[in-house]
Amino acid sequence: MKTIIYYFTGTGNSLAVAKGLCSRIGDCELIPIASLRNNPGPVVPDADRVGIVCPLYFFGLPAIVADFSRRLDLSNTGYAFSVVTMGGSGGPAALRQLDGILKEGPGRRGLDAGFFVRMPGNYILMYESLEQERIERTIQAANRRVEEIADMVKRGVRRKPGWSPFASLIHHLMYPRFIRGVHDADRKFSVDDRCTSCKTCIEVCPVGNIRLENDRPVWLHRCEQCMACIQTCPTNAIQAKKTEGRRRYRHPEIGVGMLKEQGRR
Ligand SMILES: Cc1cc2nc3c(=O)[nH]c(=O)nc-3n(C[C@H](O)[C@H](O)[C@H](O)COP(=O)(O)O)c2cc1C
Ligand code: SF4
Ligand code: SF4
Repeated sequence: MKTIIYYFTGTGNSLAVAKGLCSRIGDCELIPIASLRNNPGPVVPDADRVGIVCPLYFFGLPAIVADFSRRLDLSNTGYAFSVVTMGGSGGPAALRQLDGILKEGPGRRGLDAGFFVRMPGNYILMYESLEQERIERTIQAANRRVEEIADMVKRGVRRKPGWSPFASLIHHLMYPRFIRGVHDADRKFSVDDRCTSCKTCIEVCPVGNIRLENDRPVWLHRCEQCMACIQTCPTNAIQAKKTEGRRRYRHPEIGVGMLKEQGRR
């Protein structure tokens, strides 16, 4: 039984989950959502099982994932599932959002199952990375959860996204504002003298939102706020708000080279 998993990631958590699921499920293809962003037509997967794996942003879906889901036609899919990775809470709100988008989309078909996995938080604009030991413990627990989810997916377990009044309330309070400003939010980014013009930020940006001018990155205002550029700069030269001095985060098993693949295909 063939499975396609569409993923979006900034710092590797969702890619690690997508990879873990794929290897356990078998006969599985990973497709980066960012690689489909310039193709405006419907997406009709040629697979019996389809998964969508992405991070949680302000108790909702990343803008690029919401846009992609509106084009996704699952009418020929036997089993559709999603896994949302998050640093704290709010996963149910994003799963319900996704279910609603898919039901109104070209396939008029929602999710059969929705899951979430706790991962180290990566939103450096609000907090710094966990310490190494807590990262390791969190990822070990996440890996166990991925095993359970893979088993449920293989058995075709149905688990409709539940409704959490708290998560729905926070979604309605915070998410619309986040989405309104998301592409322009890179106006808070700046670069300091530690920049070596290495281009890593340009290469990890999943949506081609950075270019080099006078040997320094400039941001083009189609940002997804994924944090890949800030978190992977080898000299910590990119800042926004209070990020100076904060520990950076990237999933330890997802190298910068793997992040670079995302926007490229
Ligand atoms: C813009 C932004 C908003 C976020 N909002 C939330 C949130 O509302 N709740 C939460 O638990 N984690 C939140 N996070 C943390 C991420 O969801 C979490 O670290 C995720 O695993 C990152 O996945 P990635 O490494 O695949 O990008 C946010 C991260 C970013 C960058
Ligand atoms: S990754 Fe950092 S050092 Fe490299 S070009 Fe970007 S800002 Fe400069
Ligand atoms: S500019 Fe930075 S935060 Fe924005 S999408 Fe690109 S890598 Fe992510």
